[in-house]
Amino acid sequence: MTQGRRSHQGIHASIKALVAGMLMIAGARAVAIEAPRTEINPKPVLADSELIEAVGAQVLATEPVTGVAYARLTTDQQLKLSHLAHERGSCAGFEALPEVSDNNLVITDVFGQLASQELRNRRFRPMTSAQNLTANPAIVSGLQQISADQIRSHVEFLSRFESRDNRLPNANEPIEAFKARIEQILSSTSLPYQVDLISHSSTGQKSIRVHIPGSQRPNEIVALGGHVDSINQEWFGDRHAPGADDNASGSACLLEALRVFAAQGQQPQRTVEFFWYAGEESGLLGSAEIAREYRSQNKDVVGVLQLDMTSFPGAGAGKIASMSDFTSAWMRSYFVGLNSTYLNAQILDDRCGYGCSDHASWHKQGYPALMPSEAPFRQMNKKLHTTRDVIDQDTSFEHAAIFSKIALAIAMDLGNSTARQP
Ligand code: BES
Ligand code: ZN
Repeated sequence: MTQGRRSHQGIHASIKALVAGMLMIAGARAVAIEAPRTEINPKPVLADSELIEAVGAQVLATEPVTGVAYARLTTDQQLKLSHLAHERGSCAGFEALPEVSDNNLVITDVFGQLASQELRNRRFRPMTSAQNLTANPAIVSGLQQISADQIRSHVEFLSRFESRDNRLPNANEPIEAFKARIEQILSSTSLPYQVDLISHSSTGQKSIRVHIPGSQRPNEIVALGGHVDSINQEWFGDRHAPGADDNASGSACLLEALRVFAAQGQQPQRTVEFFWYAGEESGLLGSAEIAREYRSQNKDVVGVLQLDMTSFPGAGAGKIASMSDFTSAWMRSYFVGLNSTYLNAQILDDRCGYGCSDHASWHKQGYPALMPSEAPFRQMNKKLHTTRDVIDQDTSFEHAAIFSKIALAIAMDLGNSTARQP
Protein backbone atom coordinates (compact mmCIF):
# COMPACT_ATOMS: atom_id res chain seq x y z
CA MET A 1 0.00 0.00 0.00
CA THR A 2 1.28 3.47 -0.76
CA GLN A 3 0.47 6.53 1.24
CA GLY A 4 0.56 10.29 0.84
CA ARG A 5 1.75 12.94 3.25
CA ARG A 6 -0.06 16.09 4.25
CA SER A 7 0.78 18.79 1.68
CA HIS A 8 3.74 16.88 0.33
CA GLN A 9 4.44 13.74 -1.71
CA GLY A 10 1.98 13.25 -4.58
CA ILE A 11 0.24 16.54 -3.96
CA HIS A 12 3.56 18.25 -3.80
CA ALA A 13 4.58 16.78 -7.14
CA SER A 14 1.24 17.84 -8.60
CA ILE A 15 1.67 21.42 -7.47
CA LYS A 16 5.16 21.44 -8.91
CA ALA A 17 3.82 20.12 -12.23
CA LEU A 18 1.07 22.76 -12.27
CA VAL A 19 3.45 25.57 -11.35
CA ALA A 20 5.89 24.39 -14.02
CA GLY A 21 2.99 24.32 -16.48
CA MET A 22 1.90 27.83 -15.55
CA LEU A 23 5.42 29.15 -15.86
CA MET A 24 5.69 27.60 -19.30
CA ILE A 25 2.36 29.11 -20.31
CA ALA A 26 3.55 32.51 -19.11
CA GLY A 27 6.79 32.15 -21.05
CA ALA A 28 5.40 30.74 -24.30
CA ARG A 29 2.12 32.65 -24.26
CA ALA A 30 -0.61 30.59 -25.91
CA VAL A 31 0.88 27.11 -25.45
CA ALA A 32 -1.56 25.06 -23.39
CA ILE A 33 0.31 22.74 -21.08
CA GLU A 34 -1.78 19.94 -19.66
CA ALA A 35 -0.67 18.37 -16.40
CA PRO A 36 -0.45 14.56 -16.60
CA ARG A 37 -3.94 13.00 -16.48
CA THR A 38 -3.14 10.91 -13.43
CA GLU A 39 -2.62 14.07 -11.39
CA ILE A 40 -6.09 15.39 -12.16
CA ASN A 41 -7.99 12.11 -11.85
CA PRO A 42 -9.48 11.58 -8.42
CA LYS A 43 -7.28 9.24 -6.40
CA PRO A 44 -8.45 6.63 -3.90
CA VAL A 45 -7.77 7.69 -0.30
CA LEU A 46 -8.68 6.87 3.28
CA ALA A 47 -9.60 9.86 5.44
CA ASP A 48 -11.93 11.19 8.07
CA SER A 49 -15.49 11.27 6.67
CA GLU A 50 -16.19 14.79 7.94
CA LEU A 51 -13.10 16.09 6.17
CA ILE A 52 -14.08 14.32 2.95
CA GLU A 53 -17.49 15.96 3.03
CA ALA A 54 -15.99 19.32 3.97
CA VAL A 55 -13.99 19.38 0.72
CA GLY A 56 -17.10 18.56 -1.33
CA ALA A 57 -16.23 14.94 -2.09
CA GLN A 58 -18.42 11.90 -1.60
CA VAL A 59 -17.80 9.28 1.06
CA LEU A 60 -17.85 5.97 -0.85
CA ALA A 61 -17.55 3.67 2.18
CA THR A 62 -17.06 4.01 5.94
CA GLU A 63 -15.43 1.53 8.30
CA PRO A 64 -17.88 1.59 11.25
CA VAL A 65 -15.45 0.83 14.11
CA THR A 66 -12.73 3.37 13.38
CA GLY A 67 -14.84 5.81 11.36
CA VAL A 68 -12.18 5.80 8.63
CA ALA A 69 -13.81 6.58 5.28
CA TYR A 70 -12.95 5.82 1.68
CA ALA A 71 -13.27 8.40 -1.10
CA ARG A 72 -11.77 9.50 -4.40
CA LEU A 73 -10.24 12.98 -4.21
CA THR A 74 -8.92 15.31 -6.87
CA THR A 75 -5.56 16.97 -6.28
CA ASP A 76 -7.39 20.13 -5.31
CA GLN A 77 -9.57 18.27 -2.79
CA GLN A 78 -6.48 16.55 -1.36
CA LEU A 79 -4.86 19.94 -0.83
CA LYS A 80 -7.96 21.35 0.84
CA LEU A 81 -8.29 18.30 3.03
CA SER A 82 -4.64 18.51 4.15
CA HIS A 83 -5.18 22.15 4.94
CA LEU A 84 -8.24 21.42 7.08
CA ALA A 85 -6.44 18.54 8.80
CA HIS A 86 -3.56 20.86 9.60
CA GLU A 87 -5.92 23.35 11.21
CA ARG A 88 -7.12 20.53 13.44
CA GLY A 89 -3.52 19.85 14.37
CA SER A 90 -3.15 16.47 12.68
CA CYS A 91 -0.79 15.31 9.93
CA ALA A 92 -1.73 14.77 6.27
CA GLY A 93 -5.33 14.00 6.96
CA PHE A 94 -5.43 11.30 4.32
CA GLU A 95 -3.69 8.21 3.18
CA ALA A 96 -3.40 7.48 -0.53
CA LEU A 97 -4.30 3.96 -1.61
CA PRO A 98 -2.83 2.19 -4.63
CA GLU A 99 -4.88 2.41 -7.83
CA VAL A 100 -5.66 -1.21 -8.60
CA SER A 101 -8.18 -2.98 -10.83
CA ASP A 102 -10.38 -3.99 -7.91
CA ASN A 103 -10.30 -1.30 -5.24
CA ASN A 104 -13.08 -3.00 -3.28
CA LEU A 105 -10.76 -5.84 -2.38
CA VAL A 106 -8.14 -3.45 -1.03
CA ILE A 107 -10.72 -1.48 0.94
CA THR A 108 -12.29 -4.61 2.44
CA ASP A 109 -8.87 -5.87 3.47
CA VAL A 110 -7.67 -2.57 5.01
CA PHE A 111 -11.00 -1.92 6.75
CA GLY A 112 -10.95 -5.43 8.22
CA GLN A 113 -7.43 -5.03 9.62
CA LEU A 114 -8.08 -1.58 11.06
CA ALA A 115 -11.32 -2.69 12.72
CA SER A 116 -9.86 -5.79 14.32
CA GLN A 117 -6.89 -3.85 15.71
CA GLU A 118 -9.20 -1.14 17.04
CA LEU A 119 -11.48 -3.72 18.72
CA ARG A 120 -8.46 -5.42 20.26
CA ASN A 121 -7.26 -2.07 21.62
CA ARG A 122 -10.69 -1.34 23.09
CA ARG A 123 -10.81 -4.70 24.85
CA PHE A 124 -7.42 -4.12 26.44
CA ARG A 125 -7.42 -3.28 30.17
CA PRO A 126 -4.03 -2.29 31.56
CA MET A 127 -2.87 -4.50 34.44
CA THR A 128 -1.54 -2.52 37.37
CA SER A 129 1.45 -4.88 37.51
CA ALA A 130 2.47 -3.66 34.06
CA GLN A 131 3.04 -0.23 35.60
CA ASN A 132 5.29 -1.58 38.33
CA LEU A 133 8.07 -3.66 36.88
CA THR A 134 10.93 -4.52 39.17
CA ALA A 135 14.10 -2.96 37.82
CA ASN A 136 16.50 -5.51 36.36
CA PRO A 137 20.10 -4.56 37.28
CA ALA A 138 21.42 -5.75 33.89
CA ILE A 139 19.04 -3.35 32.13
CA VAL A 140 19.90 -0.50 34.52
CA SER A 141 23.60 -0.97 33.80
CA GLY A 142 23.00 -1.28 30.04
CA LEU A 143 21.06 1.98 30.02
CA GLN A 144 23.97 3.77 31.68
CA GLN A 145 26.19 2.80 28.76
CA ILE A 146 24.06 4.54 26.13
CA SER A 147 26.18 7.37 24.75
CA ALA A 148 24.85 10.58 23.23
CA ASP A 149 28.23 11.03 21.49
CA GLN A 150 27.86 7.70 19.68
CA ILE A 151 24.42 8.78 18.49
CA ARG A 152 25.88 12.05 17.27
CA SER A 153 28.60 10.27 15.29
CA HIS A 154 26.06 8.03 13.53
CA VAL A 155 23.84 11.01 12.68
CA GLU A 156 26.89 12.83 11.31
CA PHE A 157 27.76 9.77 9.24
CA LEU A 158 24.29 9.40 7.71
CA SER A 159 23.54 13.09 7.19
CA ARG A 160 26.84 13.60 5.32
CA PHE A 161 25.41 11.75 2.31
CA GLU A 162 23.97 14.16 -0.24
CA SER A 163 20.68 12.27 0.00
CA ARG A 164 19.32 8.92 1.10
CA ASP A 165 16.28 9.22 -1.18
CA ASN A 166 15.16 5.75 -2.24
CA ARG A 167 14.44 6.88 -5.82
CA LEU A 168 18.04 7.79 -6.64
CA PRO A 169 20.17 5.53 -8.83
CA ASN A 170 22.75 5.35 -6.04
CA ALA A 171 20.14 4.83 -3.30
CA ASN A 172 22.06 1.87 -1.89
CA GLU A 173 25.34 3.70 -1.36
CA PRO A 174 24.40 5.00 2.10
CA ILE A 175 22.72 1.68 2.84
CA GLU A 176 25.83 -0.37 2.11
CA ALA A 177 28.04 2.07 4.01
CA PHE A 178 25.75 1.99 7.02
CA LYS A 179 25.60 -1.81 6.89
CA ALA A 180 29.41 -1.88 7.04
CA ARG A 181 29.27 0.41 10.07
CA ILE A 182 26.78 -1.92 11.77
CA GLU A 183 28.97 -4.94 11.01
CA GLN A 184 32.00 -3.14 12.43
CA ILE A 185 30.14 -2.48 15.68
CA LEU A 186 28.93 -6.09 15.87
CA SER A 187 32.33 -7.59 15.09
CA SER A 188 33.38 -7.74 18.75
CA THR A 189 30.22 -9.34 20.15
CA SER A 190 29.97 -12.88 21.48
CA LEU A 191 26.29 -13.08 20.51
CA PRO A 192 25.20 -15.02 17.41
CA TYR A 193 23.92 -12.62 14.74
CA GLN A 194 23.23 -12.23 11.05
CA VAL A 195 23.14 -9.03 9.02
CA ASP A 196 21.12 -8.99 5.78
CA LEU A 197 20.18 -6.56 3.06
CA ILE A 198 16.52 -7.04 2.09
CA SER A 199 15.59 -6.32 -1.54
CA HIS A 200 12.18 -4.89 -2.39
CA SER A 201 9.92 -4.85 -5.42
CA SER A 202 8.47 -1.36 -4.72
CA THR A 203 11.86 0.40 -4.48
CA GLY A 204 15.42 -0.26 -5.61
CA GLN A 205 16.67 0.73 -2.17
CA LYS A 206 17.32 -2.11 0.27
CA SER A 207 16.45 -2.39 3.94
CA ILE A 208 18.96 -3.64 6.51
CA ARG A 209 18.11 -6.30 9.09
CA VAL A 210 20.17 -7.53 12.04
CA HIS A 211 18.87 -10.86 13.33
CA ILE A 212 19.84 -12.05 16.82
CA PRO A 213 18.31 -15.51 17.33
CA GLY A 214 16.50 -16.24 20.58
CA SER A 215 18.05 -18.89 22.84
CA GLN A 216 14.77 -20.27 24.11
CA ARG A 217 11.85 -19.01 22.04
CA PRO A 218 13.43 -18.19 18.69
CA ASN A 219 10.07 -18.11 16.91
CA GLU A 220 8.97 -15.14 18.99
CA ILE A 221 10.32 -11.92 17.52
CA VAL A 222 10.85 -8.45 19.01
CA ALA A 223 11.32 -6.00 16.11
CA LEU A 224 13.00 -2.61 16.56
CA GLY A 225 13.22 -0.32 13.55
CA GLY A 226 13.26 3.05 11.86
CA HIS A 227 13.60 4.37 8.33
CA VAL A 228 17.05 5.15 7.04
CA ASP A 229 15.98 6.96 3.84
CA SER A 230 15.54 10.73 3.58
CA ILE A 231 13.69 13.10 1.24
CA ASN A 232 13.71 16.73 0.15
CA GLN A 233 10.24 18.14 -0.54
CA GLU A 234 11.10 21.78 -1.05
CA TRP A 235 9.68 23.37 -4.15
CA PHE A 236 12.84 24.99 -5.34
CA GLY A 237 16.53 24.64 -4.74
CA ASP A 238 18.82 21.67 -4.62
CA ARG A 239 17.92 18.06 -3.88
CA HIS A 240 20.13 17.88 -0.81
CA ALA A 241 18.32 15.71 1.76
CA PRO A 242 20.44 15.41 4.92
CA GLY A 243 17.54 14.06 7.00
CA ALA A 244 19.50 14.44 10.24
CA ASP A 245 16.44 14.37 12.47
CA ASP A 246 14.18 12.58 9.93
CA ASN A 247 15.46 9.97 10.34
CA ALA A 248 19.21 9.66 10.79
CA SER A 249 18.36 10.28 14.45
CA GLY A 250 16.13 7.23 14.86
CA SER A 251 18.53 5.10 12.81
CA ALA A 252 21.42 6.23 15.02
CA CYS A 253 19.49 5.52 18.23
CA LEU A 254 18.83 1.97 17.04
CA LEU A 255 22.50 1.38 16.27
CA GLU A 256 23.57 2.72 19.67
CA ALA A 257 21.01 0.44 21.37
CA LEU A 258 22.36 -2.46 19.31
CA ARG A 259 25.96 -1.64 20.32
CA VAL A 260 25.13 -1.85 24.02
CA PHE A 261 22.83 -4.86 23.54
CA ALA A 262 25.59 -6.74 21.70
CA ALA A 263 28.27 -5.69 24.20
CA GLN A 264 26.38 -6.91 27.26
CA GLY A 265 26.75 -10.40 25.78
CA GLN A 266 23.48 -11.92 27.01
CA GLN A 267 21.70 -13.80 24.23
CA PRO A 268 17.97 -12.96 24.44
CA GLN A 269 15.43 -15.73 24.97
CA ARG A 270 13.34 -14.36 22.13
CA THR A 271 14.70 -13.41 18.72
CA VAL A 272 15.49 -9.70 18.52
CA GLU A 273 15.62 -8.01 15.11
CA PHE A 274 16.80 -4.51 14.24
CA PHE A 275 15.57 -2.93 10.99
CA TRP A 276 16.64 0.10 8.99
CA TYR A 277 13.83 0.42 6.44
CA ALA A 278 14.12 1.62 2.84
CA GLY A 279 11.75 4.04 1.13
CA GLU A 280 9.57 5.13 4.06
CA GLU A 281 9.35 8.64 2.64
CA SER A 282 7.80 7.32 -0.58
CA GLY A 283 4.99 5.56 1.31
CA LEU A 284 6.37 3.12 3.90
CA LEU A 285 7.68 0.97 1.04
CA GLY A 286 10.31 -1.19 2.74
CA SER A 287 8.41 -1.82 5.97
CA ALA A 288 5.16 -2.56 4.11
CA GLU A 289 6.86 -5.36 2.16
CA ILE A 290 8.63 -6.73 5.23
CA ALA A 291 5.51 -6.73 7.44
CA ARG A 292 3.48 -8.32 4.64
CA GLU A 293 6.13 -11.00 4.18
CA TYR A 294 6.27 -11.71 7.95
CA ARG A 295 2.49 -12.05 8.02
CA SER A 296 2.46 -14.36 5.01
CA GLN A 297 5.04 -16.57 6.72
CA ASN A 298 2.93 -16.39 9.90
CA LYS A 299 5.89 -15.08 11.89
CA ASP A 300 5.15 -14.43 15.56
CA VAL A 301 6.17 -10.79 16.05
CA VAL A 302 5.30 -10.03 19.69
CA GLY A 303 6.16 -6.34 19.61
CA VAL A 304 7.38 -3.67 17.20
CA LEU A 305 9.16 -0.44 18.14
CA GLN A 306 9.37 2.36 15.59
CA LEU A 307 11.85 5.21 16.06
CA ASP A 308 11.25 8.11 13.68
CA MET A 309 12.61 11.55 14.70
CA THR A 310 14.28 11.61 18.11
CA SER A 311 16.70 14.55 18.35
CA PHE A 312 14.50 17.66 18.52
CA PRO A 313 13.06 18.30 22.00
CA GLY A 314 10.18 20.44 20.73
CA ALA A 315 8.15 20.09 23.94
CA GLY A 316 11.17 20.51 26.20
CA ALA A 317 13.86 18.28 27.65
CA GLY A 318 12.64 14.90 28.84
CA LYS A 319 9.22 15.31 27.23
CA ILE A 320 8.39 12.84 24.48
CA ALA A 321 5.31 11.80 22.53
CA SER A 322 3.74 8.38 22.13
CA MET A 323 1.50 8.04 19.10
CA SER A 324 -1.84 6.53 20.05
CA ASP A 325 -3.10 5.72 16.56
CA PHE A 326 -1.84 2.82 14.43
CA THR A 327 -0.29 1.42 17.61
CA SER A 328 -1.24 -1.18 20.20
CA ALA A 329 -2.86 -0.21 23.50
CA TRP A 330 -0.98 -3.08 25.10
CA MET A 331 2.41 -1.89 23.80
CA ARG A 332 1.69 1.66 24.95
CA SER A 333 0.76 0.47 28.40
CA TYR A 334 3.83 -1.77 28.54
CA PHE A 335 5.92 1.26 27.53
CA VAL A 336 4.42 3.39 30.34
CA GLY A 337 5.52 0.72 32.81
CA LEU A 338 8.98 0.41 31.32
CA ASN A 339 9.36 4.18 31.37
CA SER A 340 8.41 4.55 35.02
CA THR A 341 10.78 1.73 35.97
CA TYR A 342 13.82 2.78 33.95
CA LEU A 343 13.54 6.15 32.22
CA ASN A 344 11.21 8.64 33.85
CA ALA A 345 10.56 10.59 30.69
CA GLN A 346 7.31 12.54 30.50
CA ILE A 347 5.13 10.79 27.94
CA LEU A 348 2.57 12.92 26.07
CA ASP A 349 0.00 10.95 24.09
CA ASP A 350 -0.58 12.25 20.59
CA ARG A 351 -1.90 11.13 17.21
CA CYS A 352 -0.54 11.35 13.69
CA GLY A 353 -4.07 11.02 12.31
CA TYR A 354 -2.98 8.48 9.69
CA GLY A 355 -0.18 5.97 9.13
CA CYS A 356 2.70 8.44 9.36
CA SER A 357 5.59 5.99 9.71
CA ASP A 358 6.63 2.34 9.49
CA HIS A 359 4.80 1.26 12.64
CA ALA A 360 1.61 1.54 10.55
CA SER A 361 2.89 -1.17 8.19
CA TRP A 362 3.14 -3.62 11.07
CA HIS A 363 -0.09 -2.44 12.69
CA LYS A 364 -1.96 -3.10 9.44
CA GLN A 365 -0.64 -6.67 9.44
CA GLY A 366 -2.03 -7.19 12.95
CA TYR A 367 1.24 -6.86 14.88
CA PRO A 368 1.42 -4.80 18.14
CA ALA A 369 3.36 -1.59 17.48
CA LEU A 370 4.70 1.35 19.50
CA MET A 371 5.80 4.74 18.17
CA PRO A 372 7.41 7.09 20.66
CA SER A 373 8.65 10.29 19.06
CA GLU A 374 10.65 13.44 19.88
CA ALA A 375 7.62 15.68 20.58
CA PRO A 376 3.88 15.95 20.00
CA PHE A 377 3.02 16.63 16.37
CA ARG A 378 2.45 20.36 16.79
CA GLN A 379 5.88 20.80 18.36
CA MET A 380 7.87 18.53 16.08
CA ASN A 381 10.83 19.60 13.98
CA LYS A 382 9.52 21.83 11.17
CA LYS A 383 12.74 21.41 9.18
CA LEU A 384 11.87 17.85 8.18
CA HIS A 385 12.13 17.15 4.45
CA THR A 386 14.26 20.25 3.78
CA THR A 387 17.95 20.98 3.23
CA ARG A 388 17.86 22.49 6.75
CA ASP A 389 17.28 19.18 8.50
CA VAL A 390 20.88 19.14 9.76
CA ILE A 391 22.56 19.01 13.16
CA ASP A 392 22.18 22.53 14.58
CA GLN A 393 21.60 24.44 17.82
CA ASP A 394 18.17 22.82 18.21
CA THR A 395 19.54 19.29 18.09
CA SER A 396 19.84 17.40 21.36
CA PHE A 397 21.60 14.06 21.41
CA GLU A 398 20.74 13.79 25.11
CA HIS A 399 17.10 13.86 24.06
CA ALA A 400 17.83 11.26 21.36
CA ALA A 401 19.54 9.07 23.97
CA ILE A 402 16.14 8.58 25.65
CA PHE A 403 15.04 6.71 22.52
CA SER A 404 18.15 4.50 22.45
CA LYS A 405 17.31 3.64 26.03
CA ILE A 406 13.73 2.80 25.07
CA ALA A 407 15.03 0.46 22.35
CA LEU A 408 17.56 -1.16 24.66
CA ALA A 409 15.05 -1.61 27.49
CA ILE A 410 12.55 -3.22 25.10
CA ALA A 411 15.22 -5.52 23.61
CA MET A 412 16.42 -6.62 27.05
CA ASP A 413 13.04 -6.80 28.77
CA LEU A 414 10.52 -7.90 26.12
CA GLY A 415 13.28 -9.98 24.51
CA ASN A 416 13.54 -12.05 27.70
CA SER A 417 9.89 -12.12 28.65
CA THR A 418 6.88 -14.31 27.98
CA ALA A 419 4.60 -11.26 27.95
CA ARG A 420 2.52 -10.74 24.86
CA GLN A 421 -0.53 -8.80 23.72
CA PRO A 422 -3.67 -10.36 25.25
N1 BES B 1 9.09 11.30 10.23
C1 BES B 1 7.91 11.44 9.45
C2 BES B 1 6.66 11.15 10.25
C3 BES B 1 6.45 12.01 11.46
C4 BES B 1 6.11 13.33 11.31
C5 BES B 1 6.56 11.46 12.70
C6 BES B 1 5.90 14.09 12.44
C7 BES B 1 6.34 12.22 13.83
C8 BES B 1 6.01 13.55 13.68
C9 BES B 1 7.93 10.48 8.27
O1 BES B 1 9.20 10.27 7.76
C10 BES B 1 7.08 11.07 7.19
O2 BES B 1 7.45 12.04 6.61
N2 BES B 1 5.93 10.47 6.96
C11 BES B 1 5.01 10.93 6.00
C12 BES B 1 4.05 9.85 5.59
C13 BES B 1 4.66 8.74 4.78
C14 BES B 1 3.63 7.65 4.63
C15 BES B 1 5.16 9.21 3.43
C16 BES B 1 4.17 12.08 6.62
O3 BES B 1 4.21 12.30 7.83
O4 BES B 1 3.45 12.74 5.90
ZN1 ZN C 1 9.79 12.08 6.81
